[in-house]
Amino acid sequence: MPATKSPEDAYTAAPFLPDRLSLAALRRAAADCRGCPLHRDATQTVFGKGKAHARVMLVGEQPGDQEDRQGEPFVGPAGRLLGKALEDAGIDPADAYVTNAVKHFKFTRAEPGKRRIHKPPTLREMSACAPWLAAELTVVAPELVVVLGATAGKALLGSSFRVGDVRGTVLEREIHGRTERLVPTVHPSSVLRSDDREQAYQGLVADLKVAAQALS
Ligand code: URA
Repeated sequence: MPATKSPEDAYTAAPFLPDRLSLAALRRAAADCRGCPLHRDATQTVFGKGKAHARVMLVGEQPGDQEDRQGEPFVGPAGRLLGKALEDAGIDPADAYVTNAVKHFKFTRAEPGKRRIHKPPTLREMSACAPWLAAELTVVAPELVVVLGATAGKALLGSSFRVGDVRGTVLEREIHGRTERLVPTVHPSSVLRSDDREQAYQGLVADLKVAAQALS
């Protein structure tokens, strides 16, 4: 008997992409993305932000509560920590293009009306959103991609990605038809959650210094 196709199999942002790729056109089109169900509960699409030809692209997981409200990536606590870590590593945050593997905030609530609690995206939601990230890579064409945590790693390097295996190293991979150089590291939120925050922070900065070196 043929397997029944679930409606989830059809999740993809592909039909929402504009014909001509520019960051402005992509941002406008992404605002109306209905490629998976995450748009239903999120306030808005949070598209990437930064210079069109930034030398470095930073890829996180998905917008958090603050990002969902403000419509910009990495503007909450994890973003503030990331900005400081970039500066400590010698990368000017203003020179980076910052985005996420998934463009809508996914969350749950313990009770109706209570605080929104972040929920990790599924592989299916990540692959539905992948056309946006692929288009951002094509348009920005960064010299280096900094992969922030497991979700970004799985989105860019495949589902077997483990951040601990490759963090702080320069990888070269064929992604969406381009040869990308990538430096994986932990997600800044994991530093905020760590029991030894200082040590975790220094680890993040050390990985980002590898990225700074690769750019020099
Ligand atoms: N965490 C992410 O991965 N991305 C954001 O934009 C904010 C928090």
